[in-house]
Amino acid sequence: KILILDFGSQVTQLIARRVRETHVYCEVHPCDVSSDWVRQFAADGKLKGVILSGSHASVYEVDDRAPDAVFELGVPVLGICYGMQTMAAQLGGKVEGSHSREFGYAEVRAHGHTALLKGIEDFSTPEGHGMLKVWMSHGDKVTELPPGFKLMCSTGSCPIAGMADETRRFYAVQFHPEVTHTVQGAALLNRFVREICGAQADWIMRDHIEEAVQKIREQVGDEEVILGLSGGVDSSVAAALIHRAIGDQLTCVFVDHGLLRLNEGDMVMDMFAGKLHAKVVRVDASDLFLGELAGVSEPEQKRKIIGRLFVDVFKAEAEKLKASGQGHKGATFLAQGTIYPDVIESGGAKSKKAVTIKSHHNVGGLPEQLGLKLLEPLRDLFKDEVRELGVALGLPREMVYRHPFPGPGLGVRILGEVKKEYADLLRRADAIFIEELRKFTDEATGKTWYDLTSQAFTVFLPVKSVGVMGDGRTYDYVVALRAVQTSDFMTADWAELPYALLKKVSSRIINEVRGINRVTYDVSSKPPATIEWE
Ligand code: XMP
Repeated sequence: KILILDFGSQVTQLIARRVRETHVYCEVHPCDVSSDWVRQFAADGKLKGVILSGSHASVYEVDDRAPDAVFELGVPVLGICYGMQTMAAQLGGKVEGSHSREFGYAEVRAHGHTALLKGIEDFSTPEGHGMLKVWMSHGDKVTELPPGFKLMCSTGSCPIAGMADETRRFYAVQFHPEVTHTVQGAALLNRFVREICGAQADWIMRDHIEEAVQKIREQVGDEEVILGLSGGVDSSVAAALIHRAIGDQLTCVFVDHGLLRLNEGDMVMDMFAGKLHAKVVRVDASDLFLGELAGVSEPEQKRKIIGRLFVDVFKAEAEKLKASGQGHKGATFLAQGTIYPDVIESGGAKSKKAVTIKSHHNVGGLPEQLGLKLLEPLRDLFKDEVRELGVALGLPREMVYRHPFPGPGLGVRILGEVKKEYADLLRRADAIFIEELRKFTDEATGKTWYDLTSQAFTVFLPVKSVGVMGDGRTYDYVVALRAVQTSDFMTADWAELPYALLKKVSSRIINEVRGINRVTYDVSSKPPATIEWE
Protein backbone atom coordinates (compact mmCIF):
# COMPACT_ATOMS: atom_id res chain seq x y z
CA LYS A 1 0.00 0.00 0.00
CA ILE A 2 0.94 3.64 -0.52
CA LEU A 3 0.36 6.39 2.05
CA ILE A 4 -0.50 9.83 0.69
CA LEU A 5 -0.15 12.63 3.21
CA ASP A 6 -2.41 15.54 2.38
CA PHE A 7 -1.04 19.04 2.93
CA GLY A 8 -4.28 20.57 1.66
CA SER A 9 -3.81 20.91 -2.07
CA GLN A 10 -6.96 21.00 -4.18
CA VAL A 11 -5.58 18.16 -6.26
CA THR A 12 -4.49 15.66 -3.61
CA GLN A 13 -7.31 13.31 -4.60
CA LEU A 14 -5.89 13.35 -8.12
CA ILE A 15 -2.69 11.78 -6.75
CA ALA A 16 -4.83 9.04 -5.20
CA ARG A 17 -6.66 8.59 -8.45
CA ARG A 18 -3.42 8.22 -10.44
CA VAL A 19 -2.17 5.65 -7.92
CA ARG A 20 -5.48 3.74 -8.11
CA GLU A 21 -5.12 3.76 -11.89
CA THR A 22 -1.90 1.77 -11.50
CA HIS A 23 -4.02 -0.73 -9.49
CA VAL A 24 -2.05 -0.10 -6.35
CA TYR A 25 -3.93 0.37 -3.08
CA CYS A 26 -3.51 3.77 -1.41
CA GLU A 27 -4.90 5.79 1.46
CA VAL A 28 -5.02 9.57 1.88
CA HIS A 29 -4.51 10.92 5.41
CA PRO A 30 -4.02 14.45 6.75
CA CYS A 31 -0.41 15.61 7.03
CA ASP A 32 -0.66 16.19 10.77
CA VAL A 33 -0.90 12.53 11.77
CA SER A 34 1.75 11.67 14.37
CA SER A 35 4.92 9.70 13.85
CA ASP A 36 3.46 6.99 16.06
CA TRP A 37 0.44 6.79 13.80
CA VAL A 38 2.70 6.41 10.76
CA ARG A 39 4.70 3.61 12.41
CA GLN A 40 1.47 1.90 13.36
CA PHE A 41 0.22 2.26 9.77
CA ALA A 42 3.42 0.61 8.53
CA ALA A 43 3.43 -2.10 11.20
CA ASP A 44 1.77 -4.71 8.99
CA GLY A 45 4.78 -4.53 6.66
CA LYS A 46 2.62 -3.59 3.70
CA LEU A 47 3.58 0.05 3.38
CA LYS A 48 5.67 0.40 0.23
CA GLY A 49 6.00 4.16 -0.10
CA VAL A 50 4.82 7.60 0.93
CA ILE A 51 3.75 10.57 -1.20
CA LEU A 52 3.67 14.09 0.26
CA SER A 53 1.12 16.27 -1.52
CA GLY A 54 1.17 19.93 -2.40
CA SER A 55 -0.57 22.61 -0.39
CA HIS A 56 -2.70 25.59 -1.26
CA ALA A 57 -0.65 27.62 1.18
CA SER A 58 2.87 29.01 1.22
CA VAL A 59 5.54 28.27 3.87
CA TYR A 60 4.81 31.85 4.92
CA GLU A 61 1.30 30.93 5.96
CA VAL A 62 1.66 27.44 7.38
CA ASP A 63 4.36 25.40 9.03
CA ASP A 64 2.97 21.95 8.32
CA ARG A 65 5.63 19.28 8.42
CA ALA A 66 5.59 15.63 7.53
CA PRO A 67 5.80 13.37 10.60
CA ASP A 68 9.51 12.54 11.00
CA ALA A 69 8.77 8.82 10.93
CA VAL A 70 8.08 9.12 7.21
CA PHE A 71 11.81 9.58 6.60
CA GLU A 72 12.84 6.85 9.02
CA LEU A 73 10.82 3.88 7.76
CA GLY A 74 13.21 2.97 4.97
CA VAL A 75 10.52 3.20 2.28
CA PRO A 76 10.68 5.50 -0.77
CA VAL A 77 9.19 8.98 -0.37
CA LEU A 78 8.00 11.29 -3.14
CA GLY A 79 7.45 14.97 -2.37
CA ILE A 80 5.27 17.03 -4.69
CA CYS A 81 5.39 20.85 -4.67
CA TYR A 82 4.93 21.81 -0.98
CA GLY A 83 5.76 18.18 -0.24
CA MET A 84 9.17 18.78 -1.86
CA GLN A 85 9.72 21.96 0.11
CA THR A 86 8.93 20.40 3.44
CA MET A 87 11.13 17.42 2.56
CA ALA A 88 14.00 19.80 1.79
CA ALA A 89 13.47 21.85 4.94
CA GLN A 90 13.13 18.82 7.22
CA LEU A 91 16.22 17.08 5.82
CA GLY A 92 18.58 20.04 6.09
CA GLY A 93 18.12 21.95 2.84
CA LYS A 94 16.86 25.49 2.38
CA VAL A 95 13.53 26.84 1.17
CA GLU A 96 12.95 30.45 0.26
CA GLY A 97 9.58 32.05 0.40
CA SER A 98 8.32 34.30 -2.30
CA HIS A 99 5.28 36.45 -2.73
CA SER A 100 5.16 35.92 -6.47
CA ARG A 101 3.89 32.70 -7.92
CA GLU A 102 4.94 30.70 -10.94
CA PHE A 103 1.79 29.25 -12.36
CA GLY A 104 1.06 27.19 -15.42
CA TYR A 105 2.92 25.46 -18.20
CA ALA A 106 6.68 25.02 -17.91
CA GLU A 107 9.42 23.08 -19.59
CA VAL A 108 11.71 21.26 -17.21
CA ARG A 109 15.17 19.97 -18.00
CA ALA A 110 15.89 16.55 -16.53
CA HIS A 111 19.45 16.17 -15.27
CA GLY A 112 21.35 12.93 -15.14
CA HIS A 113 19.65 9.63 -14.91
CA THR A 114 17.66 9.21 -11.75
CA ALA A 115 15.64 6.06 -11.43
CA LEU A 116 12.53 8.23 -11.36
CA LEU A 117 13.03 10.10 -14.63
CA LYS A 118 15.23 7.76 -16.68
CA GLY A 119 13.81 7.47 -20.16
CA ILE A 120 10.83 9.65 -19.36
CA GLU A 121 10.84 12.76 -21.52
CA ASP A 122 8.64 14.69 -23.92
CA PHE A 123 11.36 15.94 -26.25
CA SER A 124 15.06 16.63 -26.26
CA THR A 125 16.88 19.85 -26.98
CA PRO A 126 19.45 20.14 -29.80
CA GLU A 127 22.09 19.73 -27.08
CA GLY A 128 20.54 16.42 -26.16
CA HIS A 129 18.90 17.39 -22.85
CA GLY A 130 15.76 15.50 -21.97
CA MET A 131 12.81 17.85 -21.45
CA LEU A 132 9.46 17.44 -19.70
CA LYS A 133 6.31 19.48 -20.28
CA VAL A 134 4.85 20.10 -16.85
CA TRP A 135 2.36 22.07 -14.79
CA MET A 136 3.80 24.32 -12.09
CA SER A 137 2.00 26.19 -9.36
CA HIS A 138 4.21 27.51 -6.60
CA GLY A 139 5.73 30.60 -5.05
CA ASP A 140 8.29 29.28 -2.61
CA LYS A 141 11.16 27.17 -3.82
CA VAL A 142 14.04 25.04 -2.66
CA THR A 143 17.29 27.02 -2.89
CA GLU A 144 19.72 24.58 -1.32
CA LEU A 145 19.73 20.80 -1.60
CA PRO A 146 19.70 18.81 1.65
CA PRO A 147 22.82 16.69 2.32
CA GLY A 148 22.84 13.51 0.23
CA PHE A 149 20.57 14.90 -2.49
CA LYS A 150 21.43 15.63 -6.11
CA LEU A 151 19.70 17.83 -8.62
CA MET A 152 17.09 15.96 -10.66
CA CYS A 153 15.57 18.68 -12.83
CA SER A 154 15.45 22.44 -13.28
CA THR A 155 13.87 25.34 -15.11
CA GLY A 156 15.15 28.83 -15.79
CA SER A 157 13.14 30.36 -12.97
CA CYS A 158 13.37 27.39 -10.64
CA PRO A 159 16.93 26.02 -10.61
CA ILE A 160 15.99 23.20 -8.20
CA ALA A 161 12.75 21.85 -9.72
CA GLY A 162 13.45 18.31 -8.59
CA MET A 163 15.88 16.50 -6.30
CA ALA A 164 16.74 12.96 -5.39
CA ASP A 165 18.62 11.00 -2.78
CA GLU A 166 18.84 7.68 -4.52
CA THR A 167 20.44 5.88 -1.59
CA ARG A 168 17.49 6.55 0.65
CA ARG A 169 15.10 6.57 -2.34
CA PHE A 170 13.75 10.05 -1.59
CA TYR A 171 12.51 11.92 -4.63
CA ALA A 172 10.85 15.29 -5.00
CA VAL A 173 9.49 17.46 -7.79
CA GLN A 174 8.33 21.06 -7.72
CA PHE A 175 5.81 20.48 -10.52
CA HIS A 176 2.55 18.53 -10.32
CA PRO A 177 2.75 15.05 -11.89
CA GLU A 178 -0.87 14.29 -10.86
CA VAL A 179 -2.50 16.75 -13.26
CA THR A 180 -2.98 15.82 -16.89
CA HIS A 181 -1.20 18.98 -18.09
CA THR A 182 2.02 17.29 -16.98
CA VAL A 183 2.27 15.08 -20.02
CA GLN A 184 4.41 12.34 -18.43
CA GLY A 185 2.84 12.75 -14.99
CA ALA A 186 1.02 9.44 -14.95
CA ALA A 187 4.14 7.64 -16.23
CA LEU A 188 6.21 9.27 -13.51
CA LEU A 189 3.81 8.29 -10.72
CA ASN A 190 3.54 4.81 -12.15
CA ARG A 191 7.34 4.57 -12.14
CA PHE A 192 7.50 5.70 -8.52
CA VAL A 193 4.76 3.44 -7.23
CA ARG A 194 5.45 0.29 -9.21
CA GLU A 195 9.20 0.28 -9.80
CA ILE A 196 10.75 2.38 -7.06
CA CYS A 197 8.35 1.35 -4.29
CA GLY A 198 7.78 -2.10 -5.81
CA ALA A 199 4.08 -1.96 -4.88
CA GLN A 200 1.95 -4.70 -6.35
CA ALA A 201 -0.69 -3.92 -8.91
CA ASP A 202 -3.38 -6.05 -7.33
CA TRP A 203 -6.01 -3.53 -6.33
CA ILE A 204 -9.28 -3.68 -8.23
CA MET A 205 -12.72 -2.16 -7.90
CA ARG A 206 -13.95 -5.27 -6.09
CA ASP A 207 -11.45 -4.57 -3.31
CA HIS A 208 -12.74 -1.04 -3.13
CA ILE A 209 -16.23 -2.38 -2.57
CA GLU A 210 -14.99 -4.52 0.32
CA GLU A 211 -13.20 -1.58 1.94
CA ALA A 212 -16.10 0.77 1.41
CA VAL A 213 -18.58 -1.76 2.79
CA GLN A 214 -16.40 -2.22 5.87
CA LYS A 215 -16.16 1.53 6.40
CA ILE A 216 -19.91 2.03 6.07
CA ARG A 217 -20.59 -0.73 8.58
CA GLU A 218 -18.17 0.80 11.06
CA GLN A 219 -19.62 4.27 10.63
CA VAL A 220 -23.27 3.27 10.81
CA GLY A 221 -23.16 0.49 13.38
CA ASP A 222 -26.72 -0.64 14.06
CA GLU A 223 -28.28 2.73 13.23
CA GLU A 224 -30.48 3.47 10.23
CA VAL A 225 -29.90 5.47 7.07
CA ILE A 226 -32.16 7.26 4.61
CA LEU A 227 -31.17 8.25 1.12
CA GLY A 228 -32.89 10.35 -1.54
CA LEU A 229 -32.86 8.24 -4.68
CA SER A 230 -33.22 10.25 -7.89
CA GLY A 231 -32.46 7.65 -10.53
CA GLY A 232 -29.25 9.53 -11.36
CA VAL A 233 -25.89 7.77 -11.41
CA ASP A 234 -24.46 9.06 -8.13
CA SER A 235 -27.43 8.42 -5.86
CA SER A 236 -28.00 5.03 -7.51
CA VAL A 237 -24.43 3.85 -6.95
CA ALA A 238 -24.45 5.20 -3.39
CA ALA A 239 -27.71 3.33 -2.72
CA ALA A 240 -26.41 0.07 -4.17
CA LEU A 241 -23.18 0.32 -2.16
CA ILE A 242 -24.86 1.19 1.13
CA HIS A 243 -27.43 -1.52 0.59
CA ARG A 244 -24.63 -4.01 0.06
CA ALA A 245 -23.13 -2.90 3.37
CA ILE A 246 -26.16 -2.65 5.65
CA GLY A 247 -29.14 -4.14 3.79
CA ASP A 248 -32.43 -3.19 5.41
CA GLN A 249 -30.90 -0.59 7.67
CA LEU A 250 -31.12 1.58 4.54
CA THR A 251 -34.39 3.12 3.36
CA CYS A 252 -34.39 4.90 0.01
CA VAL A 253 -36.91 7.66 -0.60
CA PHE A 254 -37.73 8.21 -4.24
CA VAL A 255 -39.62 11.44 -4.83
CA ASP A 256 -41.48 11.36 -8.13
CA HIS A 257 -42.11 15.01 -8.96
CA GLY A 258 -43.95 14.22 -12.16
CA LEU A 259 -41.13 15.70 -14.21
CA LEU A 260 -39.20 12.50 -14.83
CA ARG A 261 -38.47 10.82 -18.14
CA LEU A 262 -40.72 8.17 -19.67
CA ASN A 263 -41.11 5.13 -17.36
CA GLU A 264 -38.26 6.39 -15.20
CA GLY A 265 -40.07 5.90 -11.91
CA ASP A 266 -40.95 2.31 -12.74
CA MET A 267 -37.41 1.57 -13.85
CA VAL A 268 -35.95 2.88 -10.62
CA MET A 269 -38.43 0.84 -8.56
CA ASP A 270 -37.84 -2.24 -10.65
CA MET A 271 -34.08 -2.00 -10.18
CA PHE A 272 -33.86 -1.13 -6.50
CA ALA A 273 -36.94 -2.69 -4.98
CA GLY A 274 -37.31 -5.50 -7.52
CA LYS A 275 -33.78 -6.66 -8.29
CA LEU A 276 -31.69 -5.42 -5.35
CA HIS A 277 -34.47 -5.98 -2.78
CA ALA A 278 -33.74 -2.64 -1.16
CA LYS A 279 -36.36 -0.83 0.92
CA VAL A 280 -37.66 1.95 -1.32
CA VAL A 281 -40.49 4.33 -0.53
CA ARG A 282 -41.91 5.84 -3.70
CA VAL A 283 -43.62 9.15 -3.08
CA ASP A 284 -45.89 10.24 -5.90
CA ALA A 285 -45.84 14.00 -5.49
CA SER A 286 -46.63 14.95 -9.06
CA ASP A 287 -49.95 16.62 -8.23
CA LEU A 288 -48.28 18.72 -5.58
CA PHE A 289 -45.44 19.83 -7.88
CA LEU A 290 -47.62 20.48 -10.93
CA GLY A 291 -50.16 22.28 -8.74
CA GLU A 292 -47.58 24.67 -7.29
CA LEU A 293 -46.03 25.23 -10.70
CA ALA A 294 -49.34 26.18 -12.33
CA GLY A 295 -49.27 29.71 -13.68
CA VAL A 296 -45.51 30.15 -13.04
CA SER A 297 -43.36 30.73 -16.11
CA GLU A 298 -40.24 32.50 -14.86
CA PRO A 299 -37.32 29.98 -14.95
CA GLU A 300 -35.65 30.91 -11.67
CA GLN A 301 -38.97 30.92 -9.87
CA LYS A 302 -39.76 27.48 -11.28
CA ARG A 303 -36.40 26.14 -10.10
CA LYS A 304 -36.91 27.57 -6.62
CA ILE A 305 -40.38 26.04 -6.31
CA ILE A 306 -39.17 22.62 -7.41
CA GLY A 307 -36.15 22.78 -5.08
CA ARG A 308 -38.25 23.86 -2.09
CA LEU A 309 -40.97 21.26 -2.65
CA PHE A 310 -38.39 18.55 -3.06
CA VAL A 311 -36.89 19.37 0.32
CA ASP A 312 -40.37 19.61 1.91
CA VAL A 313 -41.51 16.25 0.56
CA PHE A 314 -38.28 14.54 1.48
CA LYS A 315 -38.34 16.02 4.98
CA ALA A 316 -41.94 14.99 5.55
CA GLU A 317 -41.13 11.49 4.43
CA ALA A 318 -38.04 11.30 6.64
CA GLU A 319 -40.08 12.45 9.64
CA LYS A 320 -42.81 9.97 8.86
CA LEU A 321 -40.25 7.18 8.78
CA LYS A 322 -38.80 8.39 12.05
CA ALA A 323 -42.22 8.46 13.70
CA SER A 324 -43.25 5.05 12.41
CA GLY A 325 -40.05 3.66 13.92
CA GLN A 326 -39.75 1.30 10.97
CA GLY A 327 -37.04 -1.14 11.86
CA HIS A 328 -36.45 0.27 15.32
CA LYS A 329 -35.57 3.86 16.10
CA GLY A 330 -35.71 5.59 12.73
CA ALA A 331 -32.92 7.00 10.63
CA THR A 332 -30.03 8.89 12.16
CA PHE A 333 -28.00 9.15 8.96
CA LEU A 334 -28.73 10.89 5.68
CA ALA A 335 -26.79 9.35 2.81
CA GLN A 336 -25.84 11.38 -0.24
CA GLY A 337 -24.15 10.52 -3.50
CA THR A 338 -21.67 13.40 -3.19
CA ILE A 339 -18.67 12.72 -5.41
CA TYR A 340 -15.24 14.31 -5.37
CA PRO A 341 -15.86 17.03 -8.00
CA ASP A 342 -18.87 18.17 -5.89
CA VAL A 343 -16.59 18.48 -2.88
CA ILE A 344 -14.17 20.68 -4.82
CA GLU A 345 -17.01 22.68 -6.32
CA SER A 346 -18.61 23.48 -2.99
CA GLY A 347 -15.21 24.39 -1.57
CA GLY A 348 -14.74 26.66 -4.54
CA ALA A 349 -18.24 28.01 -4.10
CA LYS A 350 -17.05 29.72 -0.92
CA SER A 351 -15.00 32.06 -3.06
CA LYS A 352 -16.89 34.86 -4.67
CA LYS A 353 -19.02 33.54 -7.43
CA ALA A 354 -20.03 36.50 -9.45
CA VAL A 355 -23.55 35.78 -10.63
CA THR A 356 -25.99 32.95 -10.32
CA ILE A 357 -26.65 31.87 -13.88
CA LYS A 358 -28.97 29.12 -12.73
CA SER A 359 -29.72 28.16 -9.17
CA HIS A 360 -28.87 24.48 -9.02
CA HIS A 361 -31.17 22.10 -7.34
CA ASN A 362 -29.58 20.38 -4.39
CA VAL A 363 -30.34 19.27 -0.89
CA GLY A 364 -27.72 21.39 0.88
CA GLY A 365 -28.73 22.20 4.46
CA LEU A 366 -31.00 19.18 4.73
CA PRO A 367 -28.89 17.16 7.20
CA GLU A 368 -28.85 20.04 9.72
CA GLN A 369 -32.56 20.70 9.34
CA LEU A 370 -33.33 17.05 9.91
CA GLY A 371 -30.79 16.61 12.66
CA LEU A 372 -29.11 13.78 10.75
CA LYS A 373 -25.51 12.76 10.37
CA LEU A 374 -24.10 12.62 6.84
CA LEU A 375 -22.98 9.46 5.09
CA GLU A 376 -21.15 10.09 1.83
CA PRO A 377 -19.42 6.93 0.66
CA LEU A 378 -18.48 8.26 -2.81
CA ARG A 379 -16.75 11.44 -1.58
CA ASP A 380 -13.27 10.42 -2.76
CA LEU A 381 -14.22 9.13 -6.19
CA PHE A 382 -14.34 10.70 -9.61
CA LYS A 383 -17.30 10.24 -11.93
CA ASP A 384 -15.73 7.50 -14.05
CA GLU A 385 -14.68 5.63 -10.90
CA VAL A 386 -18.25 5.88 -9.58
CA ARG A 387 -19.48 4.36 -12.85
CA GLU A 388 -16.95 1.54 -12.65
CA LEU A 389 -18.02 0.92 -9.06
CA GLY A 390 -21.68 0.85 -10.13
CA VAL A 391 -20.99 -1.82 -12.73
CA ALA A 392 -18.96 -3.83 -10.22
CA LEU A 393 -21.95 -3.63 -7.85
CA GLY A 394 -24.15 -5.15 -10.52
CA LEU A 395 -26.04 -2.09 -11.73
CA PRO A 396 -26.87 -2.22 -15.45
CA ARG A 397 -24.45 -0.40 -17.76
CA GLU A 398 -27.27 1.62 -19.35
CA MET A 399 -28.12 3.06 -15.96
CA VAL A 400 -24.58 3.75 -14.91
CA TYR A 401 -23.47 5.29 -18.20
CA ARG A 402 -26.55 7.46 -18.59
CA HIS A 403 -26.32 11.12 -19.55
CA PRO A 404 -26.77 13.49 -16.62
CA PHE A 405 -30.31 14.65 -15.89
CA PRO A 406 -30.96 17.90 -13.99
CA GLY A 407 -32.61 17.75 -10.58
CA PRO A 408 -35.59 19.91 -11.68
CA GLY A 409 -36.09 17.44 -14.53
CA LEU A 410 -38.48 18.27 -17.32
CA GLY A 411 -39.41 21.39 -15.35
CA VAL A 412 -36.51 23.18 -17.05
CA ARG A 413 -37.14 21.52 -20.41
CA ILE A 414 -40.69 22.77 -20.78
CA LEU A 415 -40.28 26.45 -21.54
CA GLY A 416 -42.50 28.73 -19.53
CA GLU A 417 -45.45 27.31 -17.66
CA VAL A 418 -45.32 23.59 -16.88
CA LYS A 419 -48.46 21.58 -17.64
CA LYS A 420 -49.06 17.86 -17.42
CA GLU A 421 -50.14 17.77 -21.06
CA TYR A 422 -46.80 19.28 -22.11
CA ALA A 423 -44.82 16.92 -19.89
CA ASP A 424 -46.58 13.90 -21.39
CA LEU A 425 -45.85 15.02 -24.97
CA LEU A 426 -42.24 15.84 -24.13
CA ARG A 427 -41.63 12.48 -22.41
CA ARG A 428 -42.73 10.56 -25.49
CA ALA A 429 -40.76 12.71 -27.94
CA ASP A 430 -37.65 12.51 -25.78
CA ALA A 431 -37.86 8.73 -25.47
CA ILE A 432 -37.84 8.46 -29.28
CA PHE A 433 -34.80 10.73 -29.57
CA ILE A 434 -32.85 8.72 -26.98
CA GLU A 435 -33.89 5.39 -28.50
CA GLU A 436 -32.58 6.43 -31.92
CA LEU A 437 -29.35 7.83 -30.45
CA ARG A 438 -28.74 4.45 -28.89
CA LYS A 439 -29.47 2.69 -32.20
CA PHE A 440 -27.36 4.79 -34.59
CA THR A 441 -23.69 3.82 -34.67
CA ASP A 442 -20.88 5.94 -36.02
CA GLU A 443 -18.89 3.89 -38.50
CA ALA A 444 -15.54 5.50 -37.79
CA THR A 445 -15.56 4.81 -34.06
CA GLY A 446 -18.04 1.96 -33.78
CA LYS A 447 -19.76 3.85 -30.95
CA THR A 448 -23.41 4.75 -30.71
CA TRP A 449 -24.39 8.40 -30.93
CA TYR A 450 -25.66 8.16 -27.38
CA ASP A 451 -22.13 7.37 -26.26
CA LEU A 452 -20.64 9.97 -28.59
CA THR A 453 -22.67 12.76 -27.00
CA SER A 454 -22.34 13.97 -23.42
CA GLN A 455 -25.95 14.98 -23.03
CA ALA A 456 -28.93 14.80 -25.36
CA PHE A 457 -32.56 15.63 -24.75
CA THR A 458 -35.69 17.20 -26.12
CA VAL A 459 -37.10 20.61 -25.18
CA PHE A 460 -40.79 21.46 -25.34
CA LEU A 461 -41.67 24.81 -26.91
CA PRO A 462 -45.18 26.00 -26.06
CA VAL A 463 -45.77 27.58 -29.44
CA LYS A 464 -47.93 26.24 -32.22
CA SER A 465 -47.12 26.11 -35.89
CA VAL A 466 -49.10 25.04 -38.93
CA GLY A 467 -48.49 21.73 -40.64
CA VAL A 468 -50.12 19.36 -43.06
CA MET A 469 -50.82 15.71 -42.34
CA GLY A 470 -52.51 13.58 -44.96
CA ASP A 471 -55.20 15.85 -46.35
CA GLY A 472 -55.64 17.87 -43.20
CA ARG A 473 -54.14 20.97 -41.68
CA THR A 474 -52.52 20.65 -38.26
CA TYR A 475 -51.81 23.35 -35.74
CA ASP A 476 -49.56 21.79 -33.11
CA TYR A 477 -46.59 22.21 -30.79
CA VAL A 478 -42.87 22.37 -31.59
CA VAL A 479 -39.97 20.53 -29.93
CA ALA A 480 -36.25 21.21 -30.16
CA LEU A 481 -33.62 18.47 -30.05
CA ARG A 482 -30.47 19.29 -28.12
CA ALA A 483 -27.28 17.21 -28.18
CA VAL A 484 -23.92 18.42 -26.93
CA GLN A 485 -20.36 17.24 -26.56
CA THR A 486 -18.33 18.45 -23.61
CA SER A 487 -15.72 17.25 -21.15
CA ASP A 488 -16.79 19.34 -18.15
CA PHE A 489 -20.23 20.83 -18.92
CA MET A 490 -18.77 24.32 -18.40
CA THR A 491 -18.37 24.76 -22.13
CA ALA A 492 -20.02 22.61 -24.77
CA ASP A 493 -20.32 22.22 -28.54
CA TRP A 494 -23.51 21.17 -30.25
CA ALA A 495 -23.07 17.71 -31.69
CA GLU A 496 -22.87 17.22 -35.44
CA LEU A 497 -25.41 14.41 -35.51
CA PRO A 498 -25.80 12.64 -38.83
CA TYR A 499 -28.65 13.93 -40.99
CA ALA A 500 -30.02 10.41 -41.30
CA LEU A 501 -30.42 10.25 -37.54
CA LEU A 502 -32.10 13.65 -37.32
CA LYS A 503 -34.39 12.68 -40.17
CA LYS A 504 -35.45 9.46 -38.49
CA VAL A 505 -36.07 11.12 -35.14
CA SER A 506 -38.05 13.96 -36.68
CA SER A 507 -40.23 11.67 -38.72
CA ARG A 508 -40.88 9.33 -35.82
CA ILE A 509 -41.77 12.11 -33.38
CA ILE A 510 -44.17 13.81 -35.80
CA ASN A 511 -45.81 10.52 -36.77
CA GLU A 512 -45.97 8.94 -33.34
CA VAL A 513 -46.60 11.84 -31.00
CA ARG A 514 -49.96 13.39 -31.86
CA GLY A 515 -49.76 17.03 -30.78
CA ILE A 516 -46.28 17.76 -32.13
CA ASN A 517 -45.92 18.65 -35.79
CA ARG A 518 -42.51 20.29 -35.99
CA VAL A 519 -39.02 19.29 -34.83
CA THR A 520 -36.01 21.62 -34.79
CA TYR A 521 -32.35 21.06 -33.94
CA ASP A 522 -30.52 23.40 -31.58
CA VAL A 523 -27.19 24.54 -33.07
CA SER A 524 -25.99 26.79 -30.24
CA SER A 525 -22.79 26.26 -28.30
CA LYS A 526 -22.16 27.04 -24.66
CA PRO A 527 -21.26 29.81 -24.15
CA PRO A 528 -23.12 31.92 -25.09
CA ALA A 529 -26.09 29.54 -24.81
CA THR A 530 -26.38 27.15 -21.87
CA ILE A 531 -26.97 23.43 -22.28
CA GLU A 532 -30.47 23.46 -20.82
CA TRP A 533 -32.86 26.05 -22.20
CA GLU A 534 -33.88 27.35 -18.79
P1 XMP B 1 -26.33 24.47 -18.14
O1 XMP B 1 -27.73 24.50 -18.64
O2 XMP B 1 -26.10 25.39 -16.98
O3 XMP B 1 -26.14 23.01 -17.58
O4 XMP B 1 -25.33 24.67 -19.24
C1 XMP B 1 -24.90 22.43 -17.23
C2 XMP B 1 -25.18 21.04 -16.72
O5 XMP B 1 -25.87 21.12 -15.45
C3 XMP B 1 -27.10 20.42 -15.52
N1 XMP B 1 -28.07 21.16 -14.71
C4 XMP B 1 -28.48 20.78 -13.48
N2 XMP B 1 -28.19 19.68 -12.75
N3 XMP B 1 -29.61 20.44 -11.04
C5 XMP B 1 -28.77 19.52 -11.53
O6 XMP B 1 -28.55 18.52 -10.86
C6 XMP B 1 -29.94 21.56 -11.71
O7 XMP B 1 -30.71 22.39 -11.23
C7 XMP B 1 -29.36 21.73 -13.00
N4 XMP B 1 -29.45 22.71 -13.96
C8 XMP B 1 -28.65 22.32 -14.99
C9 XMP B 1 -27.45 20.39 -16.99
O8 XMP B 1 -28.33 19.32 -17.29
C10 XMP B 1 -26.08 20.22 -17.61
O9 XMP B 1 -25.64 18.87 -17.54
